[in-house]
Amino acid sequence: MGASVCLRGAVKTFRSGIATIRAVEGVDLDVPFGQMVCIHGASGSGKTTLLNLIAGLDVPDVGEVTIGDLILTGLSDRQRARVRLERVGVVFQANNLIDEFTGGENVFIPLLAAGLPITVAKSSAADALECVGIGDPFDRRPGQMSGGQRQRVGIARALAGSRNVLVADEPTGA
Ligand SMILES: Nc1ncnc2c1ncn2[C@@H]1O[C@H](COP(=O)(O)OP(=O)(O)OP(=O)(O)O)[C@@H](O)[C@H]1O
Ligand SMILES: [Mg+2]
Repeated sequence: MGASVCLRGAVKTFRSGIATIRAVEGVDLDVPFGQMVCIHGASGSGKTTLLNLIAGLDVPDVGEVTIGDLILTGLSDRQRARVRLERVGVVFQANNLIDEFTGGENVFIPLLAAGLPITVAKSSAADALECVGIGDPFDRRPGQMSGGQRQRVGIARALAGSRNVLVADEPTGA
């Protein structure tokens, strides 16, 4: 089977005043289906930038990113958001939970947005929360959670549903 995640010559630079930061400098990567790959490097070496390209949160200046048979770099922001909803779970370095929602809602509501029937979304969210050691219903809002609880809800959100790629940025940091 072909690679599920593929990068070809990916370059991402940032401008900061007069300085140009080459955060990702011509990366080729193939991750086959069923494989787990760890990326490690010093703080500021470009790990989050690289993962953002894989997740379609950002696009490379040069190069191509594909997920399965989809060329991410050819899609609009909206289309890439839809790909994340349906195919790519993302665990953010800074959880990015929605403060107004409870833990359970943070996991459940994206599944509704992805078009899952309510009963399927509920059971999938409950399974994901259980998988990370948090019972369902988890009614606490992010402001009342511990750092580890927030992180685990963020992981549950990425696991829930039927996505086939999981991108996790320092998922064990807390
Ligand atoms: N939006 C941005 N604007 C300007 N520079 C940025 C931006 N995002 C990242 N950078 C720079 O790009 C480089 C790579 O950052 P990145 O966040 O990818 O590092 P990292 O390897 O994930 O670090 P950490 O281990 O601390 O999370 C750093 O020098 C950072 O300052
Ligand atoms: Mg990072």
